[in-house]
Amino acid sequence: MFYHHKYLLCFLLFVSQWGFAICQDNRAYDIACLRTHYAKPTAQWQPPTIDEGVNWTELAPITHTPAPSTPLTELGKSLFFEKALSSNQTIACVSCHDPDHAFADPRTVSLGVFDRQGKRNSQSLSYLGLDAPTSHGFFWDGRANTLDEQVLIPLTDPNEMDITLDSVPTRLVSAGYLPKFQAVFGEHLADIDISQVAHALTTYLHTLTPTPTRFDDFLNGDPTALTDTEILGLHLFRTKARCMNCHFGQALTDNQFHNLNQTLAGRKWQDFGRYANTDNPSDFGKFKTPSLRNLSVSKPWFHHGLFVNLRGVVAIYNRGMPLPPTKDAPPIAHEDHLDPLIKPLGLSADEMDALTAFLMTL
Ligand code: HEC
Ligand code: HEC
Repeated sequence: MFYHHKYLLCFLLFVSQWGFAICQDNRAYDIACLRTHYAKPTAQWQPPTIDEGVNWTELAPITHTPAPSTPLTELGKSLFFEKALSSNQTIACVSCHDPDHAFADPRTVSLGVFDRQGKRNSQSLSYLGLDAPTSHGFFWDGRANTLDEQVLIPLTDPNEMDITLDSVPTRLVSAGYLPKFQAVFGEHLADIDISQVAHALTTYLHTLTPTPTRFDDFLNGDPTALTDTEILGLHLFRTKARCMNCHFGQALTDNQFHNLNQTLAGRKWQDFGRYANTDNPSDFGKFKTPSLRNLSVSKPWFHHGLFVNLRGVVAIYNRGMPLPPTKDAPPIAHEDHLDPLIKPLGLSADEMDALTAFLMTL
């Protein structure tokens, strides 16, 4: 009787901590069982391990058929590639948002006009056409409230394109854009307005989608599209590794801001994220959750671009993102700001390998 209760208690603890553990005997996984489970439509999958209060949605394939190109999206695209919008005519949006790298930049930090260095890694833009929770702002720190507001900021940033907004119409007219704007906004148009530039860029960005991968084939019903290891990685992503607390839905982001102890306080690349704009201590070190779609080509990762090894990223998540010792850091950086959704995970080396393999399929 005594033993009976003890086992029952263990079972309950196990269930409450990890959700219903499926396809598992002691610590060994039954891969054939996981395969059968995840071959089902996503609506029949076991719910992921998610803390209370998180408003998650299930993973989903990229179904979005690219919006047909219109004169407006074509105009936005040519503006995105237009170097005349920089002070020395060498930098366009595309210089730091490379279509071959999920519209991110393979360099740790991007270089703007005259090789000036910014302090953050360029963000991938290819998720902007996907269904994602309403964004609470753009940039790693959310300082732009809307995409219309965001797209004009790189133009005036001294480390990026370094021009004045007033000069934009003249620059575009000299580069022969007036007829293109007239074709979209009406033949009577005498001059280009900056809000039309923003509207065209935003409309183009909303047509971007990540390149579908084997993971999409799997979600669309091809059970052979993922290997056994990758299926175990998918299972861990949804359960024991807790990733779906923040990376969920079609775009694999909650579009929220979290502190993952990545401020590098007291070091050269110190960056306090959202706090620098809001001055609200509860925003200290918070950065926007990036989409994990096409992750294998959007490297390097995180706002600082200092992570280049995906297995290493998984390993620090596994350790619960310990705060590195800080030198010369202000007092606020010594307080505990780590997001409560981040916890040590207890993944084995094999489990970390499987999770890494799965991430590469996204
Ligand atoms: C010199 C490099 C550079 C140039 C040029 C550049 N960007 Fe960026 N872009 C970045 C970096 C770096 C970030 C992240 C900056 C931050 O968080 O402070 C970023 C962020 C963004 C974001 C935010 C994405 C999100 O998910 O929040 C958008 C949208 C964007 N850029 C669009 C553009 C457009 C449109 C242009 C051209 C008008 C442009 N960028 C030009 C480097 C650049
Ligand atoms: C508490 C929310 C949260 C959880 C849980 C979480 N992440 Fe993240 N993830 C983030 C945020 C926020 C960033 C950006 C942090 C930064 O740049 O400082 C990020 C960045 C990443 C990046 C870098 C992507 C890029 O393009 O730069 C990867 C890869 C990643 N997470 C994978 C994972 C994996 C794997 C798990 C599960 C083990 C996980 N995340 C769990 C919020 C979370």
